Amino acid sequence: MNKYLFDKLPCGCEVTAYEIGNDTVRATILNYGGIIQKLLYRGTDIIGGYDKIEGYRVSDGYQGALIGRYANRIRGGRFTLNGVDYQLAQNESARGNHLHGGDIGYDAKLWDVEYKQDCDGEHLILTLTDPDGTENYPGTVNVRVTYSVCGENFSIHYEAVSDKDTPFNMTNHAYLNMNGIAGGQIYDQTLQVNADFMSKVDEHLIPVDKVPVDGTAFDFRTPKLLSRELMTCDDPQMVIGGGLDHNLYITTDEATLYQGKKLSKAAVFAGKLGALTLYTDKPCVQFYAANFMEGEYPFKGGLKREKNGALCLETQFAPDGPNRGEAILKAGDKYDYTALFRFDV
Ligand code: GLA
Repeated sequence: MNKYLFDKLPCGCEVTAYEIGNDTVRATILNYGGIIQKLLYRGTDIIGGYDKIEGYRVSDGYQGALIGRYANRIRGGRFTLNGVDYQLAQNESARGNHLHGGDIGYDAKLWDVEYKQDCDGEHLILTLTDPDGTENYPGTVNVRVTYSVCGENFSIHYEAVSDKDTPFNMTNHAYLNMNGIAGGQIYDQTLQVNADFMSKVDEHLIPVDKVPVDGTAFDFRTPKLLSRELMTCDDPQMVIGGGLDHNLYITTDEATLYQGKKLSKAAVFAGKLGALTLYTDKPCVQFYAANFMEGEYPFKGGLKREKNGALCLETQFAPDGPNRGEAILKAGDKYDYTALFRFDV
């Protein structure tokens, strides 16, 4: 493990970078937001991000960051739990939704970090106490996220316990490009998803139905090119999303055993560098093709940020879960989910 001072926050607090991995996969993780600042696959960086902490603070794309307490959207920022009505920040102002944990989510917190090495590989254990009432959510939650690099596997293990019932749904917002992050738009890359169903969304990008992908632009059951034509096609759901920004329900017919858990094969994302296979025990994944990624502030090394310059594969519960009685972490229960990114060797 290599550890260094990455930058300082405006308050003077230090942001530390931790580098773990091997010749196939190397990850640089920040204690700020648990951000994956670099992800090298055979020496090529495949993840979006910045050279300075300012980039992460001025951009609204949650680059490489841990997302919580509730990833994705909650309609109107409102939900009712155990007879109590809650109003969260409507920080996705254009649609009136609560998005990715609110005004100050887990992506903007300083996490405690511990390092561990064992015969499987290297691990960074990030912990955070999220106090009762933060962002108006009920309950104090003790959160623990373990990033591991074990051979060709890069994984994120999410664990949490709350002292009150609370909506809870964590993910990571890594923007990946399998030609390398300097490799341009993803139009020549392919995506295959083990999903028969998707969330049909309304104009606020809130699910209104669970529908088959059959006959839609979202049928990725065989590998499909993430072409410009696909993402600008006239499928009404593609139009509403401004491109690919949708939740798919993962089938559980193919699995792998990893760190003692059975994880379903969710997706394969492939480009010039090779393929990355996503496994998870979460029921869903949000596929987001960086539709809003263009902007002035440049990426690492002065790289231009472009629309469709990357793909996010965000393991999650379906959006707006608390308004369907889903994605509630009960007091004292253990939240325990894994996302495994396995690279070709
Ligand atoms: C998620 C959402 C997108 C967008 C990004 C952040 O992936 O589904 O609509 O808000 O986060 O830019």
